[in-house]
Amino acid sequence: MIKPLECVKQIKPYVPGKPVKELERELGISGCVKLASNENPAGPSPKAVAAINDFLSQSSELCRYPDGSSYYLKQALSEKLSGRGLDLDPGNFILGNGSNELLDIVARTYVGPGDEAVMATPSFVVYSMAVKAIGGVAREVGLTEYRHDLSAMADAITTKTKIVFIANPNNPTGTINRKAEFDAFMKRVPDGVLVVIDEAYLEYASDPEYPDTLHSYFAEGRDILLLRTFSKAYGLAAMRIGYGIAKKEIIEDMNRLREPFNNNSLAQEAARAALGDEAHLRNSIGINEEGKKYLYKELSALGLKYVPTEANFIYMPLDRDSNSLFDSLLKQGVIVRPVGPKEIRVTIGLDSENRRFIEALKKSL
Ligand SMILES: Cc1ncc(COP(=O)(O)O)c(C=O)c1O
Repeated sequence: MIKPLECVKQIKPYVPGKPVKELERELGISGCVKLASNENPAGPSPKAVAAINDFLSQSSELCRYPDGSSYYLKQALSEKLSGRGLDLDPGNFILGNGSNELLDIVARTYVGPGDEAVMATPSFVVYSMAVKAIGGVAREVGLTEYRHDLSAMADAITTKTKIVFIANPNNPTGTINRKAEFDAFMKRVPDGVLVVIDEAYLEYASDPEYPDTLHSYFAEGRDILLLRTFSKAYGLAAMRIGYGIAKKEIIEDMNRLREPFNNNSLAQEAARAALGDEAHLRNSIGINEEGKKYLYKELSALGLKYVPTEANFIYMPLDRDSNSLFDSLLKQGVIVRPVGPKEIRVTIGLDSENRRFIEALKKSL
């Protein structure tokens, strides 16, 4: 029988949750609340939905391949992000089928068999999957107080290191690394190592010391790749579209491996419209801030530990088994994510969803 490559065998497959409708059918309940995947509970921008409908109304376009260069979306991104002394060009962008795809492409572009990539643990699981899939070695460095230990990560760089992955804010802990520690880290990164800064939750970060990587390391011409997404604050997770920003040479390297039509037409239209809907973005961030305050208050009242977040989810270290709490919440129609033996992560939802979570939590404890 055919056997997978050894490097592929090392990878634990991602286990997706069941569709909510199926869960409801199995449990005989309705109105489940899904707080497991850090989606935007406010939904997509109505402008994005209108753009999708407009595109569909020209139904003959569905038989055409999408624009493989994402020309208009790159144009919109460069206009949006240029300014304050920075002149971005469409050549500084790469679009992916979710930023997830860009993690895969960047690993395949720069990491060969036996090469190393440094990353934190726990952090976004795709970094190690992408590296291991191509026979690379994932050097995982433990968090310190739930945050990336950038000094230990710099110590972990060897002559074999090609990439350092940093999630800022981090998933699953929601923590950030501030500007001063980032500056100190960047000074220690040797030539020939690419720093991938995954800013999937950037829009939610409100700490004044959150690093402005675009106007610092990118502007200085450093070897970095900034990754952002339309899946979170922009509410377009189903469309699968994210983007990378880097100097042109890096984008050109990655484009060699990019599948020619990796961004479908609906995603491109929706993302472009969403970029232009500042009011929806502000509203989404506002809902998150309100939900965060409510959850902090309730969790504190229950005497539960949580890690203050700069993202749209909260990491909770528990004094009990996370899977049994997950099951108990699930039976009450609330889906969270167990992210460790004694840790759960809960996405900040709409007010009604957060209340339902707290009620279910009270019954479970
Ligand atoms: C830190 C981080 N990076 C990247 C992603 C991938 O997002 P997408 O592929 O939807 O753009 C996620 C999704 O949960 C994430 O948490």
